[in-house]
Amino acid sequence: MRIAIIGSGYVGLVTGACLADFGHHVTCIDSNPKKIALLQSGEIPIFEPGLASLVRTNSQSERLSFTTGLAGPVGEADVVFIAVGTPSRRGDGHADLTFVYAAARDVARAVRGFTVVATKSTVPVGTCDEVERVIRKANPQAHVAVVSNPEFLREGAAIEDFKRPDRIVVGTLDDQRARDVMAQVYRPLFLNQSPILFTDRRTSELIKYSANAFLAMKITFINEIADLCEQVGAHVQEVARGIGLDNRIGAKFLNAGPGYGGSCFPKDTVALMKTAQDNGAPLRLIETTVAVNDQRKRAMARKVVSACGGSLRGKTVAVLGLTFKPNTDDMREAPSISIIQALVDLGARVRAFDPAGHEQAVAVLNETVVLARDPYNCVEGAHAVVIITEWDVFRALDLAQIARQMATPVMVDLRNVYRRDEVVKHGFTYANLGDGVCGDERTLSVAAE
Ligand code: UDX
Repeated sequence: MRIAIIGSGYVGLVTGACLADFGHHVTCIDSNPKKIALLQSGEIPIFEPGLASLVRTNSQSERLSFTTGLAGPVGEADVVFIAVGTPSRRGDGHADLTFVYAAARDVARAVRGFTVVATKSTVPVGTCDEVERVIRKANPQAHVAVVSNPEFLREGAAIEDFKRPDRIVVGTLDDQRARDVMAQVYRPLFLNQSPILFTDRRTSELIKYSANAFLAMKITFINEIADLCEQVGAHVQEVARGIGLDNRIGAKFLNAGPGYGGSCFPKDTVALMKTAQDNGAPLRLIETTVAVNDQRKRAMARKVVSACGGSLRGKTVAVLGLTFKPNTDDMREAPSISIIQALVDLGARVRAFDPAGHEQAVAVLNETVVLARDPYNCVEGAHAVVIITEWDVFRALDLAQIARQMATPVMVDLRNVYRRDEVVKHGFTYANLGDGVCGDERTLSVAAE
């Protein structure tokens, strides 16, 4: 099949590379000539494990190409994916659909013959209807079927997620021809037993937002349970295991942390909340999730203060991990941003190390942090080390060496990477999340009673 993908960002690029790998002929289009020139020369503008080699192999086999010119590839395509950004609109938090509708107008002028136009961008309910209206207005002769085909991949695991999805969702009008084309696009995945769910367009659009909102709520739930564990002397990791073994709950997304971040959960929860409010059916659970998560990020700084004996004034804090999660260089809505700002506001100097995020971090954090070249250089002379992102390189640090290098060996582990006993034996004061024996006086007194 011939496939054109408009938007060579995260989703567009991963989709393009994986569909080419399935054997389709794919052209990835982007209006940014620098990005296209980079991709044509075999360079990848984003950090995603495995993507560079997938792009290289499929480019060499001439199944994958890159261009700024939309008309040619769209004219030849059986399917055009719209995978442009849908950022939060300034001021009201609604998804900004400017790029989606601009792409729809470009498609309208370029299509020839029957073409399926699939929205891969995360778009609010009703957007496909509007995309169809925009196309018909720009070109009443266009023979298109507009379908919704949301993407569920995670950064850092994008290729695996694309190639082995839990499900594929396709929303169409009652249009068998469009369904057959989409089934053909994903045929290699059915052979892998991935189920495909055909539904109507509005339902499909809402499935994507509901999935992200549910996961954000699940994380927020376990984060609040972690806070409770600290007060009552229980252990959140064991609570998570105990509830996660119930198949109705499931074990995934129950890791307590400093609050969810990234390019999707924060923006999509707010956009869904707005849609719900506008339609007179407010989602109170999601409204609370958003508020609790926002507060949580800054509250993490108070944990550092208390581990440091009540004040950060004049102290140096070493931060390990800046990106919103490991295996990405993405800093969007990363908890580190709010936490570092709060630490600085409380009088600390902050030194930080991240395996991949320095370039993006400089753009966001400006002068607030000094970047270190490795974890050991980062902790030199520091009064506390805070693990914010659970990169693998932070899982097996030489704790004896770290303790020796620090001014005072204090560790605040916001991802529960370490076990208390293995850290404490090196002389650290150790604080983590949801671990009710973490030296909290009230917990100890409850335990003693
Ligand atoms: C998410 C969805 O998982 C994906 O399906 C969707 O397509 C895009 O949004 P992504 O943002 O790449 O993917 O990352 P994800 O792994 O879901 O993590 C999001 C945030 O939640 C991160 O900040 C992560 O640290 C946090 N998280 C995740 C937790 O705090 N605890 C968990 O148990 C899981």
